[in-house]
Amino acid sequence: MSEHTVTIRELPARIGDEVRLRGWVRRLRSSGKISFLVLRDGTDEVQCVFVRGELPPEAWERLATVGHEACVSVTGLVRADARAPSGVELTGSGLEVLGPSTDFPIQPKEHGVDFLLENRHLWLRSPRQIAIMRIRDEVIRAIHDYLHHEGFIHVDTPILTGAIGESAGTLFETEYFDLGTAYLAQTGQLYVEAAAAALGKVYCFGPTFRAEKSKTRRHLTEFWMVEPEAAWIDSEGNMALQESFICWIVKRVLYNQRDQLEALGRDISKLEAIQPPFDRISYTDAVALLQSKGSDIEWGADLGATAETLLVEGRDKPLFVFDYPKGVKAFYMKENPEDPRTVKCNDLLAPEGYGEIIGGSQREDDHDKLLARIREEGLPEASYDWYLDLRKYGTFTHSGFGLGIERTVTWMCGIDHLRETIAFPRMMTRITP
Ligand code: 4AD
Ligand code: MG
Repeated sequence: MSEHTVTIRELPARIGDEVRLRGWVRRLRSSGKISFLVLRDGTDEVQCVFVRGELPPEAWERLATVGHEACVSVTGLVRADARAPSGVELTGSGLEVLGPSTDFPIQPKEHGVDFLLENRHLWLRSPRQIAIMRIRDEVIRAIHDYLHHEGFIHVDTPILTGAIGESAGTLFETEYFDLGTAYLAQTGQLYVEAAAAALGKVYCFGPTFRAEKSKTRRHLTEFWMVEPEAAWIDSEGNMALQESFICWIVKRVLYNQRDQLEALGRDISKLEAIQPPFDRISYTDAVALLQSKGSDIEWGADLGATAETLLVEGRDKPLFVFDYPKGVKAFYMKENPEDPRTVKCNDLLAPEGYGEIIGGSQREDDHDKLLARIREEGLPEASYDWYLDLRKYGTFTHSGFGLGIERTVTWMCGIDHLRETIAFPRMMTRITP
């Protein structure tokens, strides 16, 4: 008898065959005569049924010693079983332990989140975490596919940088040889602006760092951001691009990962409602709306999480808020010719209270205005020489935005906290594992 090693996902096509599987033991339950072992191998899960007397006695004895999350090789016959989630079961005829596991720390019971985070390297094996990682992977693929479909070129931007990208308050600094201080990138934006003058439509996609002393469920110190940047697009066009981008991502997740969304208990109708067009409201109107809802916000203040939640209340789609006051936004945003107190920018707020998932803007393309803003903000002018050059040599209308991957995945999954959407979250109070 020769068995082929196959993956669990392939089993429905192997009914009637003797196969070998390799994987980890999710669960094992045994009566004296029969044992049920749920095996997972990364592709899926399957129940393997072992009947005493139908496998060699040493294999039956070994079975009794197999621990939760041990790595095993199982041989057996693939049978159709209408009750099984994937329609198949395995009747086991042999078992080998490849990697024993005793007292796996995470048990099928409730654990506190600190304990789970301490054991993040093992927590990743649980069904919920697997579902989230698959959805994250889908979101990332959808992003690359969409942007390539639209003619964007992927450009990698540096992580070690010499200039402040977003705001001085949240920089990670490190010594850089004889050149002084380097900063971990808060954004790749300034660099994709340079690349947009070479290639027209570009994007960067990488880890970004914010030393935010913020312990909210929406903040990580290291998060992933995709930043498209395009020539000839103004603030209006930028919002249209974001709308179509988000709709594509949601559609792809619904199409390819519906089973994972279901596994998470996500209300899928909420994602099915994400269709164009999305409502747009100016910052000024948003403040008036908030005041009418009893908020004490004043014109000029940034919109916090509470305000964002109030604004999306009763809406089932994301909401654009555009043209914020200059004072609450970064130096590179284009001054609004119709109201110079504001800049041509937008945030996109996800529904269901998930808050800002995108920040974007048209960029200041006037050299002198940009220089004045750099000075006003007290930024070290010399570090921005090259950035100002883009306004000296063939300046051009251009816009772009940054979508936070973890915020987006949190919303897709309908979960409470960003920390579960990245394999190894980095937060103010956590740097291990
Ligand atoms: O609004 P932000 O700061 O925008 C930028 O960095 C621009 N340079 C983007 C651009 O125009 N190219 O960040 C963009 C997005 C936010 O909307 C949010 O989704 C995410 O990045 N983000 C964070 N995600 C997790 N943890 C944090 N601390 C985050 N800060 C921002
Ligand atoms: Mg922002």
